[in-house]
Amino acid sequence: MADTIRIIGISGSLRKASFNTALLRAAKELAPPDLQLDIADISQLPLYSHDVQVQGFPEAVQNLGERIRAADGLLFATPEYNYSVSGVLKNAIDWVSRLKDQPFAGKPAAICGASAGLLGTARAQYHLRQIGVYLDLRFINKPEVMVGTAQERFDAEGKLTHAPTRKFVGDLMVALRDAARRGKS
Ligand SMILES: Cc1cc2nc3c(=O)[nH]c(=O)nc-3n(C[C@H](O)[C@H](O)[C@H](O)COP(=O)(O)O)c2cc1C
Repeated sequence: MADTIRIIGISGSLRKASFNTALLRAAKELAPPDLQLDIADISQLPLYSHDVQVQGFPEAVQNLGERIRAADGLLFATPEYNYSVSGVLKNAIDWVSRLKDQPFAGKPAAICGASAGLLGTARAQYHLRQIGVYLDLRFINKPEVMVGTAQERFDAEGKLTHAPTRKFVGDLMVALRDAARRGKS
């Protein structure tokens, strides 16, 4: 049996009933058995300021950077805020991007996202891909998991119930697992 692939999941929403965090939970449930998805908590990161950075990276930033470095890949679940990624997600990315021994560089990564709108975070996802160029993230291209009308695809407990979307999420995890495995060899 091949080694387990370890992925860090980052949700760009701090909302308790977040569709994006629920999407990460679905990804964990639907992942192949040889992929372990751990969901990071970015709620403790302060707002980025260079003044804070020069006093020393906050512990929450260092911990997140360590976890990303140790992982085989990343899964982002991004909300769409005003046609882009959320501020909290960009803030987390900005902090980690300032660490030495760049945790993002060369990391296989995948994107998913959910919104109440019809386009299912498409515009935010393409912004995230653009950000990933500078970070040297290795985003996989397909499948694109853009979950529109999210309120109809999750139940009241935040479980992803829409069968075709569950299939897409499972396929995304297989594609990320395969990319991470290629990255290791
Ligand atoms: C500041 C703000 C901006 C938003 N802009 C968009 C947008 O551009 N496109 C969209 O589809 N939804 C937009 N929404 C709606 C979010 O997609 C929706 O609130 C979604 O549920 C947020 O993700 P979450 O459930 O993971 O918290 C916006 C919401 C907020 C709070």
